[in-house]
Amino acid sequence: MKIAILTSGGDSAGMNAVVRAVVKAAILKGCEAWIVREGYEGLVRGNAEAESSPTYAPPSATHHSDFPLAATNIINNLRFGDGELLKDGTGDYASGRTLKGRYIVRVGWDDVRGWFTEGGTLIGTARSKEFRTQEGRLAAAYNMVKEGIDALVVCGGDGSLTGADVFRSEWPQLVAELRAKGKISEAQAQTHSHLKIVGLVGSIDNDMSMTDLTIGAPTALHRICEAIDNINSTAFSHSRAFVIEVMGRHCGWLALLAGVAGGADFLFIPEQPPKSQPWEDEMCAAIHRHRELGKRKTLVIVAEGAHDIDLKPIKAEYVKDILAERLGLDTRVTTLGHTQRGGRPCAMDRILPTLQGFKAVDAILEANPETPSYMIGIQENKITMVPLMEAVAMTKEVSTAIEKKDFEKAMRLRDPEFRE
Ligand code: F6P
Repeated sequence: MKIAILTSGGDSAGMNAVVRAVVKAAILKGCEAWIVREGYEGLVRGNAEAESSPTYAPPSATHHSDFPLAATNIINNLRFGDGELLKDGTGDYASGRTLKGRYIVRVGWDDVRGWFTEGGTLIGTARSKEFRTQEGRLAAAYNMVKEGIDALVVCGGDGSLTGADVFRSEWPQLVAELRAKGKISEAQAQTHSHLKIVGLVGSIDNDMSMTDLTIGAPTALHRICEAIDNINSTAFSHSRAFVIEVMGRHCGWLALLAGVAGGADFLFIPEQPPKSQPWEDEMCAAIHRHRELGKRKTLVIVAEGAHDIDLKPIKAEYVKDILAERLGLDTRVTTLGHTQRGGRPCAMDRILPTLQGFKAVDAILEANPETPSYMIGIQENKITMVPLMEAVAMTKEVSTAIEKKDFEKAMRLRDPEFRE
């Protein structure tokens, strides 16, 4: 079987560890491992006709069904066959120099050696507009059939995983269309009548339901904590207030946990806006109280998706003006931006993707036309396999609850044990 892996959407620390684990697990299970560069965009572009990937003898297979024991094989079985990417000695394929015109590439064990320590995604990612169109997905299906890819592992956020499921449900129709247009043979249409897809959640936002943690979220949180520690010391020195804006799109996880870990005085998250309106009074009263108790510094964290109970966005600059005008605090704004997303993964973002990458290959090998597409998650410290579309639907429910101003429901969906 030929298993391909791609990374899609915003990059997150740990995506390289996912690629490494999927490649190595696939090889250990006797499959061919392939990578798709630049996310779904790479699938749509495919390989230039003359440049199709050369086929070479597959490495000898060992079968390990147990997990996480199988993960130890990564450590024990060094060198399992030369990597195609490293053959020209540059090893620099992220630049695309050695792979011009080739987006779907066979990889070997050595190609991904040491990848778990690297930030971002070395195989590239994109938010592909083309793949959102039926025409784009038809081109993607053609390129996959042409290279003989049987299964796809997608690592990305909820948008990317929704795209994966759409692709899988449309697949028979796409293959029929390619056959009708004479682009693929009857034998190819038969062999590729079904597409196996498994999703892994790579996102710093930790916004996906049915999993406790997304790949990249622990590292991003760690970065935010480091930044807060740095800010705290300068804030303390000058007795200043700082308003820190953190990422997370519509999810308040990063902001909430950073507030807990960094000692915030006030917090704005999308799921639980300040109850009173105008909220400015509530915030100022809390911060005034903290100052009265002797605090020399003030820290307010604003999630990028924060808003008030009427869904009016709450912006860091505005919060700063309020603190300065009403409380007379010398206030600065720090927007952490993409420093939260880049850089080396922390230990958790190496371990989690390694275990989940192995599970993803198991899920691919177990999949059949009757099983749903699975998403690999982690719940209560166990690696899990849940129906991908159920997780996506539940995630959407949170946004819908927020849109309907049902914040209690939004909080309960995020944390079923949540009580006021
Ligand atoms: O989903 C990850 C994320 O970093 C969000 O937190 C943020 O809203 C968005 O991506 C930023 O996207 P971009 O890098 O395309 O500006």
